[in-house]
Amino acid sequence: MKKLSIYIHIPFCTHKCSYCNFISFCNSNDKKEDYIKALCGEIRLRGKEYGKYYDITSVYIGGGSPSTLKEGQVAKIMSELKNNFRLLPNSEISIEVNPESVTEKKLLEYKLVGINRLSIGGQTLNPKILQLLGRKHTIEQTKNVIKLAQKIGFDNINVDMMLALPTQKLKDVKKMATFLVKKNIKHISPYSLILEPSTPLYKMVLNKKVTLPSEEQSVEMYNFVFNYLTKKGYSRYEVSNFSLPDYESLHNLNYWNMGEYLAFGLAGHSYISYTRFSNTENLEDYINEISKNNIPVISKEKITISMRKDETLMLALRTKEGLNLKDFDAKFNCHLMTDKKREIEFLTMHNFISVKNGFLRVNDNAFYVLNSIISKLV
Ligand SMILES: C[S@@+](CC[C@H](N)C(=O)[O-])C[C@H]1O[C@@H](n2cnc3c(N)ncnc32)[C@H](O)[C@@H]1O
Ligand code: SF4
Repeated sequence: MKKLSIYIHIPFCTHKCSYCNFISFCNSNDKKEDYIKALCGEIRLRGKEYGKYYDITSVYIGGGSPSTLKEGQVAKIMSELKNNFRLLPNSEISIEVNPESVTEKKLLEYKLVGINRLSIGGQTLNPKILQLLGRKHTIEQTKNVIKLAQKIGFDNINVDMMLALPTQKLKDVKKMATFLVKKNIKHISPYSLILEPSTPLYKMVLNKKVTLPSEEQSVEMYNFVFNYLTKKGYSRYEVSNFSLPDYESLHNLNYWNMGEYLAFGLAGHSYISYTRFSNTENLEDYINEISKNNIPVISKEKITISMRKDETLMLALRTKEGLNLKDFDAKFNCHLMTDKKREIEFLTMHNFISVKNGFLRVNDNAFYVLNSIISKLV
C-alpha cells in the first residue's frame, strides 16, 4: 500500500489577528454545521477514489482555528475519516488549538477520538505584543492550556512562537523559549513574522504606528532560539521546526520529502499522482457544490519531472538531513555534483553548504540565507 498524509482545513476563528492572511472567517457559528457536513461529504467522495489504495500515516487538522469548532464536531470529522480511509495504528494525528477557544472537554474529546498531537498557538509571553497582534488570549490561558493538555496525557505537543514581532526584544524571545523548555514541550516552531501586504499590521508598519525589529535584531532572535534549543537537546530538523529526539512531525516531514497528501476543506491544496490541485476559496461554493456531490476544484496542475526535481532540492535543503545525492541522482537521472559543480564549489568554499556522507546540506550558520542558497542551486 502507498502512504498518504491528510490535511483538513477549518476556516473559522474567533477573531482575525492583525498579521494573518490565512483563509478564515469570524462570527460564522451558523456556518459551522453546514461546513462540517460538506467536509464529511468531501471525505466520502475522496475516500471512494483513493481510500483503498493508500495507508494514512498522518492527519493534520489545521486552520484557521479548529478549536473554535463545537464539541462533537471534531469527533464527527474523525469518524468520517476512519470510515473512509485506513489510518495506520501508529499514525500521527494533530490538531491546532488556540488558548482562548480550547476547553478541557474539547481536549478530552480529541484524546478520545485518537488525536495524539497538539499544536498550540502561544506566539509570545509578552501581553502588550499579544495585543498588538490582535490575539484574544492571555498569557494565563496559554499556560493553562499547556498544563491541562499535559494533565490529560498529551505528550506530543508543539507550541508556535513568533519572532521579529513589533516592539519585540531579545528578552521576550528568551522568556518564551525558556518557558517552553521548562515545561518540557517536545516540539517548538519559531516563525519569523512575514509582513503580509493585505493585513492591518502591514498598514500599521507603513504608517509608522509600530516598528519592527531590524534585520540584525531578527537574525539575533532566531540565532538565540537555535543555539538555546540545540543546547537543550532539541534538533532543528527544518528551518522553523525544533524537536526533542523522536518528536519530529511525520506530517511535516512528508511535505519536505515530497510525499503525497490530500487536503480536504476550503482552499485545500493536494498533491497526489504527480498532480497538484486546490479547492475553491469561496465558502458558499464549497458547501453548495459538495451538496451536489461535486468537489469544487479550481486549479489542477501536472507537476513535470523538472518541477519535481527543483522542488525536491528546495524542500530537502530546508531540512537538517539535507539532500540524499544518490537518491536524487537516481530519481532524476542526473549527477548534481557535476551538473552544479561551480555553484556547489562556491557555496562550500564560503561555508554555506557541506557535502558529507552522501548528503548535501545547508550549514547551521547559513540557514538565514537559505533562499539565496536555494536559488543558486535551482
Ligand atoms: C495557521 S496558524 C493557525 C494556528 C492558530 N489559529 C493560532 O493562531 O494559534 C499557524 C501558525 O502560523 C503562524 N503565522 C500565521 N501568520 C503568520 C505570519 N504572517 N508570519 C509568520 N507566522 C505566521 C502563527 O505562529 C500560527 O500559530
Ligand atoms: S487565530 Fe490563527 S488562523 Fe486565526 S487569524 Fe489568528 S493567526 Fe490566523
